[in-house]
Amino acid sequence: MKRTPRAYVETYGCQMNISDGELMEGILEARGYEIAERPDDADVILVNTCAIRDHAEKRVLGRVSQLKGLKADNPELILGVTGCMAQRMGDDLLAKAPYVDLVMGPDGYRALPEALEQARGRSRSTGEGAEGGVLGSAPARVAREIPRPRRGPQLTVLDLDTGENYEGLEQRRTSDVSAWVPIQRGCDHRCTYCIVPYVRGPEKNRDPHEVLAEIAGIAAGGVHEVTLLGQTVNSYESGDWSFARLLREVARVPGIRRVRFTSPHPNDLTEELVEVMAAEPAVCEQLHLPAQSGNNRTLKRMLRRYTVETFLEKVELARSAIPDLALSTDIIVAFPGETDAEFRDTLELMRTVRFDDAFTYKYSLREGTPATRLPEGDFIPDDEAQARLEELITVARGIQAEINRSEVGRVEEVLVEKAARDPGSVLGRTRRNKVVAFPGDLSWVGHMHTVELTSTTGATFAGSRVAVAGTGTLVGAAV
Ligand code: 5AD
Ligand code: SF4
Repeated sequence: MKRTPRAYVETYGCQMNISDGELMEGILEARGYEIAERPDDADVILVNTCAIRDHAEKRVLGRVSQLKGLKADNPELILGVTGCMAQRMGDDLLAKAPYVDLVMGPDGYRALPEALEQARGRSRSTGEGAEGGVLGSAPARVAREIPRPRRGPQLTVLDLDTGENYEGLEQRRTSDVSAWVPIQRGCDHRCTYCIVPYVRGPEKNRDPHEVLAEIAGIAAGGVHEVTLLGQTVNSYESGDWSFARLLREVARVPGIRRVRFTSPHPNDLTEELVEVMAAEPAVCEQLHLPAQSGNNRTLKRMLRRYTVETFLEKVELARSAIPDLALSTDIIVAFPGETDAEFRDTLELMRTVRFDDAFTYKYSLREGTPATRLPEGDFIPDDEAQARLEELITVARGIQAEINRSEVGRVEEVLVEKAARDPGSVLGRTRRNKVVAFPGDLSWVGHMHTVELTSTTGATFAGSRVAVAGTGTLVGAAV
């Protein structure tokens, strides 16, 4: 009897990519693959990559080269590279890594089973019914073959598809706590540092009814938290559905208790959206609002399409509607041409807004993006960029620690995610996305508990469970 083929998907990068990894697993499972938990016992290994920064790509190239070692024990093993780096590098990747059998960009996954069959040298026609065809109704996307001595051809699927939003395909959901739900793919902005629009194509929005049906299914399966995903998630639009309308309806799906979304663009943070956030009990009091810089000249050269002043107005709009809002952001330091004074404006923005959390990055040159064409002298030496990054991190962490220290003593609802490092403890998140470890049992994973925040490291909290009136346990009993 033929053995069930086994596929292992290893994902790097953002939530959208994690969600794509689950999509690939779902597509393969629907076509008879078993999903392996480790690369060693897989027939197909897919490394699902990120291209946002050079560092991310280098790490992945190292990992792919390490995985090729498994081919010594299993010469039939197919090694594929998918995702944004695959799209960006294309044929160059095949030349750099001749042991890679398949390179597939983010719009190619519908054709994944066919491409794998082709790679395994058993290419079938796509006209032989559901089994042999490409999933869904989209036309078959044929993998391009590149001859390779002795080992059979290498394959690429790299066309961007302006219509592909993977409607009708099921993600394999691995978490019984929280679900990622992409509602939009691609991006219509052209921030000058960013590779995303080139590797993920223009914005494509899903049908709202499909999204709502999917979320109803997620809730029926016992998962109570969803995060809506999109590159500029709040620019979502489908017919007369705005993002605010979709968010309201998602928040009202029976069984859904927490809704988050990421990442919004500041310009699309409308009054209507903020009103929905404030009015719907299921929408969490948390907002990730990427600022990127606190200097107007830099923002302009980044093509962010807002100023520091309008960014601050958006912060004020959100905070006045949701007073307990936790805010986080993304910041890039050392964008080409950023002067020291301009960098200090970013520090000033951090002190003005006082973000609960900040994801901080050194500018990374991405071939093909507009910023690469800035004058050569504008590019900032790495030691200077590193010093700016460290200074920013110190400021951001200091503010975060002050905020978190002031929150010790609060009683919060925590959704338990997994075991904490300390045995006998579990780790979860508050509605405001703060991480809390507290004594508890693994059977609590996926459940909400009321927890008093008892101390903080500055970044995360320790807590103890507080039993609540009406739950059948004693009020005030810390477990
Ligand atoms: N260099 C550094 N950081 C980048 N980001 C996007 N492109 C780059 C780049 N070329 C950051 C932005 C974005 C986050 C996901 O990654 O801050 O919001
Ligand atoms: Fe990149 Fe800008 Fe689009 Fe975000 S909005 S994905 S930073 S181009």
